[in-house]
Amino acid sequence: MFRVKKKISALMAVMLAISITACGSQSAFGEFDEDNGNLIVVGFSQPGAESTWRVALTDSVKENFTEERGYKLIYKDGRSKQDNQIKDIRTFIQQGVDYIIISPIVETGWDTVLSEAKDAGIPVIICDRNVVVENESLYTAFVGSDFTAEGECAVSNLEKYIQDDEDGQINIVHIQGTLGSSAQLGRTKAIEEAVKEHSNWNIVAQDCGEFTKAKGREIMAQAIEELGAENIDVAYCENDEEAYGAIQAMNEAGVKYGNKEGIKIVSFDAMNSAMVLCMNGHISVEVECNPLQGPYIYNLISRLEKGNAVPKITYVHEECFTADNLAPEIIEKRRF
Ligand code: AHR
Repeated sequence: MFRVKKKISALMAVMLAISITACGSQSAFGEFDEDNGNLIVVGFSQPGAESTWRVALTDSVKENFTEERGYKLIYKDGRSKQDNQIKDIRTFIQQGVDYIIISPIVETGWDTVLSEAKDAGIPVIICDRNVVVENESLYTAFVGSDFTAEGECAVSNLEKYIQDDEDGQINIVHIQGTLGSSAQLGRTKAIEEAVKEHSNWNIVAQDCGEFTKAKGREIMAQAIEELGAENIDVAYCENDEEAYGAIQAMNEAGVKYGNKEGIKIVSFDAMNSAMVLCMNGHISVEVECNPLQGPYIYNLISRLEKGNAVPKITYVHEECFTADNLAPEIIEKRRF
C-alpha cells in the first residue's frame, strides 16, 4: 500500500515536471532529475551551515547515501530560517522522494508540513534535533543527540572545577544557541537547574549566540566590559563556535581563562580543535555532540526498505571530556 502511494506521488511529480517544461517554464524542482533509475531518492533538509559541526553532519549523511549504495540524495540548506526548511520539505513532497530527512532548526511548527508528508506516504526521519508535534505518528523515527543528558554531563563536570572558588559566588556568562532548538533547550535547562540547586551560582549574563563564533565573541566582549572579567567565573557556551568567539574576546581583552586560573569555559560539540584546547586545560569541559549520524540514518532506512520495524528514538553515542580523560590518541581518532 505504502509503496503504491509513493509510486503514485512520484508519477504525479514527473507529470507536473513535464507539464512545466512543456509550458516553457523553468523546473520548480531545482536539481531534481526524474531519471533516477532504480535509485532510492532521499531529500535532506538542513537548517543552515552555521558551524563546522553542521558541515560534518551534512558530510556524514552525503557519504552514506551514495549512488554506489543505491541512493540519490537531494540536499537543501534552509539558510537559518524555518520557513525555508518548510519550503524545501514541500519541494521534496512534490518531487515524490522516497524518504525525507530533516534536521529541524527549532522544535515546534512542523505539524502541517509533516502531515503533508504523511499524506503523501513519505516516511520522515528527524535527525540531530527533535520536533514537538501533536501526533508522533507524523514522523517515522528520530536519530540524534540527548541534549538534556549533554547539559547534565557538562554541569556535573563543571562542579569539579569550581568547587574551590575563593569569594564563594560563581558568576556565569551563558551564551545560548538558537532559541527554541533542542540543542539550546536541553543545554540551557541543565545550567538553569544547576543554578537553582546551587545557592551561590548566578547567571549574570544570558544572551543568544545563535551557535556562531561572531555572536559568541560579541556577547563575551560585552559581558567583560559591563561586568568586569574579575566578576566572571564561568563562560557556559552552547557550542564550540561560541566558545571560540568567547576565547577570542578574552584574548583581545587580556583576560585569563583555563583550569589553572581565570574563567572556566564549558563547551559542546567536541570538535578536534576544541578537544586539543580541552586537553591542554584551556577549555575545562567539552561535551561531545556527535555529528556522525549518517550511518545511523542509513541503517534505519535500510531496515525500512526491507519492511522491518525501526525504533522510534535512537540516541547517538556521545561522551564528556575534561583534561583528565583526554589524550592525543583519542583526539586523532576523530575527524571533524
Ligand atoms: O544541533 C546541534 C548543534 O547545532 C551543535 O552543537 C551546533 O554546533 C550546531 O550548530
